[in-house]
Amino acid sequence: MFPIKEIRKDFPILSRKVHGKPLVYLDNGATSQTPIQVIDVIVDYYSNYNANIHRGVHNLSQEATDKYEEARHKIQNHFNAKHAHEIIMTSGTTESINLVAHGFASLLDKGDEIMVSALEHHSNIVPWQMLCEKTGAVLKVIHMNDEGELVLTEYSKLLSNKTKLVFVNHISNALGTINPIELIIEKAHQVGAAVLIDGAQACPHVKPDVQALNVDFYVASAHKMCGPTGVGMLYGKEAWLNKLPPYQGGGEMIADVTFEKTTYAGLPHKFEAGTPNICGGIAFGAAIDYLNAIGFDNIAAYEHELLEYATEKLMEIEGLKIYGTSKNKTSVISFNIEGIHPYDIGTILDKLGIAVRTGHHCAQPIMAYFKIPGTVRASFAFYNTKEEVDILVAGVKKAKMMLA
Ligand SMILES: Cc1ncc(COP(=O)(O)O)c(C=O)c1O
Repeated sequence: MFPIKEIRKDFPILSRKVHGKPLVYLDNGATSQTPIQVIDVIVDYYSNYNANIHRGVHNLSQEATDKYEEARHKIQNHFNAKHAHEIIMTSGTTESINLVAHGFASLLDKGDEIMVSALEHHSNIVPWQMLCEKTGAVLKVIHMNDEGELVLTEYSKLLSNKTKLVFVNHISNALGTINPIELIIEKAHQVGAAVLIDGAQACPHVKPDVQALNVDFYVASAHKMCGPTGVGMLYGKEAWLNKLPPYQGGGEMIADVTFEKTTYAGLPHKFEAGTPNICGGIAFGAAIDYLNAIGFDNIAAYEHELLEYATEKLMEIEGLKIYGTSKNKTSVISFNIEGIHPYDIGTILDKLGIAVRTGHHCAQPIMAYFKIPGTVRASFAFYNTKEEVDILVAGVKKAKMMLA
């Protein structure tokens, strides 16, 4: 049995009230909550060994450096990267994608093609459009169907020897679709294109193995995985990271500096200019430990139960439509009620203590496909319960009654 009662005790925030009602937190797709085990690591850092890393001979600096590099190793092991220096610490998924897009500016020629999917978050669209503006490369789009799945026959046709890079999310934040990334990677490699997978939404639910996937770049954010905000990772194959130029200049990323010429540090420091989010990086490692202690198979099985239960209950509400109906999806339910604006439903749910997200979820092309302004999105984590699903369903019924 999944130890849900014990797990909920790890999250202090889950016992607070909002508008006098117990908090029902169903906005995990935006950011996850933080267990006490991770909060303790943050408090310990600032209480006991706060210091700048990699630069000091003094004891505190050494301790902080060791813990920070230990966290890099935890991330390496978690994603099964071959080398620790293939893990670049960043401020999150957005920065990781921008880093790669910046690097590809020196590798693309006018007329080269790069490919995005219709299911992407804006962070996996806009940096590539900026890259196209800089280089004259052309952005191609893999379209989706009414279930919110990518049309793979079309993908095969779009690929050619002009395709240099394909970037697709592992799981869609707006719809929850799990994309067949193994196939996407294999087909891209057949034409010599590199692949970046945006794992921001996948990493709270699954444990990706970057070597088994044979993926070139994989990116994620700690704050969606029970870690703090402002920290994340970029995995890149060593050969690719060596090909890309530095993203930012500054301290820490250099070997030697004179006014005539600067030489750069090796991996991973070449991409880590300036003082990083030291505490955040260490806490990211602790969050990975926490999730692995529960086990990703256990998390997936429990969340699947929640998804099935919530889908069934919500579908009983007349006029409610779910967007994203792929069989292969994670615990995200995006929905609308006929004739009611999603924002209004979200506002009433908030008054009942229920936190959901409303709007376009930084995925306007998906909303344009469905010809809607946005949706209400309930995104479940392993610390949510069926009782909370019942509260959500009752809240949506109440909102419908008040607004219809
Ligand atoms: C699929 C996806 N990609 C990228 C991002 C951006 O992540 P961050 O804001 O942590 O950089 C998000 C955030 O919601 C996301 O869901």
